[in-house]
Amino acid sequence: MDKIRIRGGISLKGDIKISGAKNASLPLMAACLLTDKPLYLCNVPNLSDISSMAQLLSQLGVSVTRHKDTNTVELCANNLSSTTAPYDVVRKMRASVLVLGPLVAREKQTHVSLPGGCAIGTRPIDLHLKGLEALGALISLEEGYVHAKAPHGLIGAPFTFPTVSVTGTENLLMAATLAKGQTRLMNSAREPEVGDLAHCLNAMGAKISGIGTDTLVIEGVDKLESTTHSVIADRIEAGTYAMAAALTGGEICLLGTTLQLFPTLSTLLKRAGVTLKETQNCLTVKAPTTRLQGVDVMTEPFPGFATDLQAQWMALMSVAKGAAMITETIFENRFMHVPELCRMGANITVHGSSALVRGVNKLKGAPVMATDLRASVSLVLAGLVAEGETLINRVYHLDRGYEKLEEKLRGCGADIQRL
Ligand code: EPZ
Repeated sequence: MDKIRIRGGISLKGDIKISGAKNASLPLMAACLLTDKPLYLCNVPNLSDISSMAQLLSQLGVSVTRHKDTNTVELCANNLSSTTAPYDVVRKMRASVLVLGPLVAREKQTHVSLPGGCAIGTRPIDLHLKGLEALGALISLEEGYVHAKAPHGLIGAPFTFPTVSVTGTENLLMAATLAKGQTRLMNSAREPEVGDLAHCLNAMGAKISGIGTDTLVIEGVDKLESTTHSVIADRIEAGTYAMAAALTGGEICLLGTTLQLFPTLSTLLKRAGVTLKETQNCLTVKAPTTRLQGVDVMTEPFPGFATDLQAQWMALMSVAKGAAMITETIFENRFMHVPELCRMGANITVHGSSALVRGVNKLKGAPVMATDLRASVSLVLAGLVAEGETLINRVYHLDRGYEKLEEKLRGCGADIQRL
């Protein structure tokens, strides 16, 4: 089991190239199931979640060719051999449910294991299923599997999401591209990854309008064609490294991303005293010369503050001046990083879905445990600013979402080793 050792107290200075977005790459890979023509994806990060999705698609009979050296993936579903997504794959990565919509739309039936819960919450997929039923799919749940079929194809229809769901929107968006007639998806997720998927689907011949708004209108087409698509930058990775600069009193130039990808984070960082400057090809994040100011935050669907940046913000606030109230509105159990940060000397108390962080003068390095993808990177951030040595266990969580993490941080002067 790999560990990561960090010796803190170094101000990070340098450039970091932001990788393609994990949460855009996963639905984009699943989109290959909608056509028998090849789909070429560029700027795909080399992450274990991408490997898991590639493995699942291969098991369905998709030919998947990954070129890790150039971050490209070629996918072609012209000869599917199965429409079953098995439990042992889905339980490892819940984004596997993204094959549900495309398979029902193209193959007219599928069996996808229910994902089961995960560390941050129960994370049901009831909205995915209700939406597919609105498009005419017949859904039944047997022995932990979703059986979905649409023998005469899907029929376009209006559907309003009771709550915003990112992969729910992506599943229905993909299914609707091949449904007969018009589909209107109301209260859709507006995350940039949803927009990236929609742009790629339109390049494949889909007819989607309202991209970037909470109402997506899709006119069904008979079939989709081949295209080449470059994945957008990972806004969560970019936001994480922006906070690393702020936390360590440094200055980092983020390459390949834009402020538009994290509008609320940039507003809050400025309020905390951080300077952000966008030039032609880089976004410079500069820490204040004085102490960071505590700023409250509430997680919300895009363009609100991303829940995937909440743990990182907590690490930032743990050494800020004053107090900060952090409220998590998306998931019911996303404070597992709190006890670990407290072991490093942070002063945080949790009351239901809110955590009150009282800034301390400094954190102390300690052996800590990673629990989920974003919680583990908040421990890396804390280790970068803590006095002494921090040892992080179970770093496989990090490998799911951060390409070349140690390399990128070492490039800015961090003392970080994988053991
Ligand atoms: C996506 O998960 C992301 N994953 C998550 O990132 C991210 O945290 C989340 O969106 C919120 O932004 C991918 O894109 C692969 P949701 P998703 O459906 O789609 C409830 C990471 O770290 N809900 O928007 O599963 C759900 O329980 C991961 O990269 C239902 O009740 O999230 C949650 O409380 C973690 N029924 C809320 O909605 C449903 O059918 C938002 O979930 C679906 C969701």
